[in-house]
Amino acid sequence: MKITICEKEYTLKEKTDNLLEAFIYIKTTQNNSLTFKSGCRSGICGNCAVVVNGVEKLACKTTIKDGAEVKPLKNLKVIKDLVVDNSCQNRLLKKAKAQLEQKSDEIILPDNVSKIDKESNCILCNSCYSSCPVYAVNKDFIGPFAMARAYRYIEDKKETNIKNKIDILQDNGVWSCTLCGNCSMVCPSLIDIKTDIMMLQNKSVQYGYQNPNLASGFDAGIDFGFNP
Ligand code: SF4
Ligand code: SF4
Ligand code: FES
Repeated sequence: MKITICEKEYTLKEKTDNLLEAFIYIKTTQNNSLTFKSGCRSGICGNCAVVVNGVEKLACKTTIKDGAEVKPLKNLKVIKDLVVDNSCQNRLLKKAKAQLEQKSDEIILPDNVSKIDKESNCILCNSCYSSCPVYAVNKDFIGPFAMARAYRYIEDKKETNIKNKIDILQDNGVWSCTLCGNCSMVCPSLIDIKTDIMMLQNKSVQYGYQNPNLASGFDAGIDFGFNP
């Protein structure tokens, strides 16, 4: 069986369980400079995300197919081979204020937890940023996982400063998303980020904001078939 990693072809032994195992095999037998990241080896740490045949995958959870083409995550600076610079995570989480800011004394019920449970499961793998066509051209875009995380705190009953969080998401945030759904499709934690962003758009409207793209359409006299 053969696979290509960063444009270089390698031959694997017949029995290789997953892609991460293949990286380790190649490093120990054919190319000791091959550089990749891993940690838990069980889909929990998010370290091993790569692009396989154009789609973001966790290497430790991906079955190898003959002829597979493996590349580093897109839209992030490559440090070496399959290792990318993920420092954008902190910058974007900070920008989105995706944390508890103003704590209430509300009692949290199981129902409240289940509402934000999925979003709390992000493993910071960066697959969503790699798949995002908007982040590809605009590195100021707050982007998928920081918005999913912001949504998690906006829906958190413990947070009282919702308005501030919604305000921040107006610039390079909810309205810049094309709702293409790529991020939801590649997320290994099955977080439906696109839907979270749609919910954030709805929340923004509730807080008095409107879609600026639509507003400029109205200004330009485009007929949307209804009166705003
Ligand atoms: S749905 Fe929005 S955030 Fe997700 S990949 Fe598409 S443009 Fe990016
Ligand atoms: S939201 Fe999903 S795809 Fe994005 S970093 Fe978190 S786990 Fe990875
Ligand atoms: S090594 Fe941790 S998710 Fe793959």
